[in-house]
Amino acid sequence: MRIGIFGSGYVGLVTGAAFAQLGHHVVVYDNDVTKIASLRDRRVPFYEPGLAELIERNAERLDFADEPTAAAAARDVVFIAVGTPSAGDGRADLAAVCRAARTIAERIDGPTVIVNKSTVPVQTADVVERIVRAAARRTDVRVVSNPEFLREGAAIHDFFHPDRIVLGCDDPWAENVMRALYAPLAAPVVVSDRRSAELIKYAANAFLATRISYINEIAAICEHTGADVDAVIEGIGLDRRIGRDYLEPGLGFGGSCLPKDVRALAATAARVAVEPTLLAAVLRVNETQLERVRSRLSYVLAGLRGRRIALLGLSFKPQTDDLRESPALALAAALAAEGASIAAHDPAATASARALLGNAVTICEDAEDALFGADAMVVATSWPDYARLEPNAVAARMRRRVVFDLRRALDGDAFAAAGFLYLAVGSPDRAYPLDAGATA
Ligand SMILES: NC(=O)c1ccc[n+]([C@@H]2O[C@H](COP(=O)([O-])OP(=O)(O)OC[C@H]3O[C@@H](n4cnc5c(N)ncnc54)[C@H](O)[C@@H]3O)[C@@H](O)[C@H]2O)c1
Repeated sequence: MRIGIFGSGYVGLVTGAAFAQLGHHVVVYDNDVTKIASLRDRRVPFYEPGLAELIERNAERLDFADEPTAAAAARDVVFIAVGTPSAGDGRADLAAVCRAARTIAERIDGPTVIVNKSTVPVQTADVVERIVRAAARRTDVRVVSNPEFLREGAAIHDFFHPDRIVLGCDDPWAENVMRALYAPLAAPVVVSDRRSAELIKYAANAFLATRISYINEIAAICEHTGADVDAVIEGIGLDRRIGRDYLEPGLGFGGSCLPKDVRALAATAARVAVEPTLLAAVLRVNETQLERVRSRLSYVLAGLRGRRIALLGLSFKPQTDDLRESPALALAAALAAEGASIAAHDPAATASARALLGNAVTICEDAEDALFGADAMVVATSWPDYARLEPNAVAARMRRRVVFDLRRALDGDAFAAAGFLYLAVGSPDRAYPLDAGATA
């Protein structure tokens, strides 16, 4: 099939390269001409394992356009994969989606399925449909909702091995086109009305965020009672009704999706007069988690003013250089606000971190450089490189032997044996008397 894609971010590029791999002819358009210029030079503007190779392998079926007609005219299917960032009040900003829909509709010149892959609030397909009806010169155009579930860092794998494909579709012809497109993946296909498909995406992300906030609250209880969150996770995760995915205690959820999607779903609930009690709590716990980490570090260092903190990991999770809403950046800001100086390292996000943070944080090329003279080493992202740090080598560089493992990524016993005060989210430490508040 001939496929057009609007947006060359994670979703647009991965979708485009993957459909080219499946044998389709794909044109990816972005209104950011610098991104398209870089893609034409075979440079992927962000870090995603395997993506550059996938693009290279399928170059003869994959074009990049800096004008929209090539991605909209003479296409069987056109995907909208543009950003839907948070507006100030938490709602999803749909300006780019609406603009893309109009641009596509004005250019289509044959029967076309317009597919919304961006994450959009329930009822957005109705809005897109109205825009398309008003702008298109044809009537054989259908609007489908096809939310995306890929994870940054594992996006290629997730495209080719999805748990399910969700198609929000009320037209048999469009459904057949979409089924044919995804048939080689042999994944379960959930076909629903468009509104349900849109809500499935938010319900999924909000549920994942809920699990993270839930386990962070359990982890906090562990820290104050002498229980160990790893054991708790094992014990509940083996329960098939619960499972263990996304029970990951840490600094809280971040990235370009979970925080904005929970806020947007809460805004949708409020718009239709449903009190988003649980969603508000999920967001609140996430904020509290950062504050809990900050105050625990402040406690063990007897204040943060003048302390030097080695912050390892800046991206919101390993295998990506995405810094959008990364809790590590929020922690850096909170520590700096109390007078600490931060030397940070990230295996992939050095360039984007320098561009974003300027002089506020020293960004080091090597983790070892960040450790020099540090009062504490804080591991904020579980990049595998950090698990390989050798405690005695770390100690030799630091001023004090304090390590705070926010991702439970290190060998705590080895660090303790090397004389470190080892703190981990979800385990008690000497900073909290175990009997505080306990009753017989
Ligand atoms: N990143 C993820 O892991 C992920 C996963 C699932 C779903 N999503 C959703 O997919 C959507 C896209 O996410 P992303 O991370 O790829 O976004 P992104 O911000 O990385 O990329 C969006 C791209 O769209 C371009 N764009 C904006 N307006 C345009 C227009 N009118 N025409 C053409 N291009 C335009 C931008 O220049 C940008 O390059 C969002 O709604 C997001 O919530 C993202």
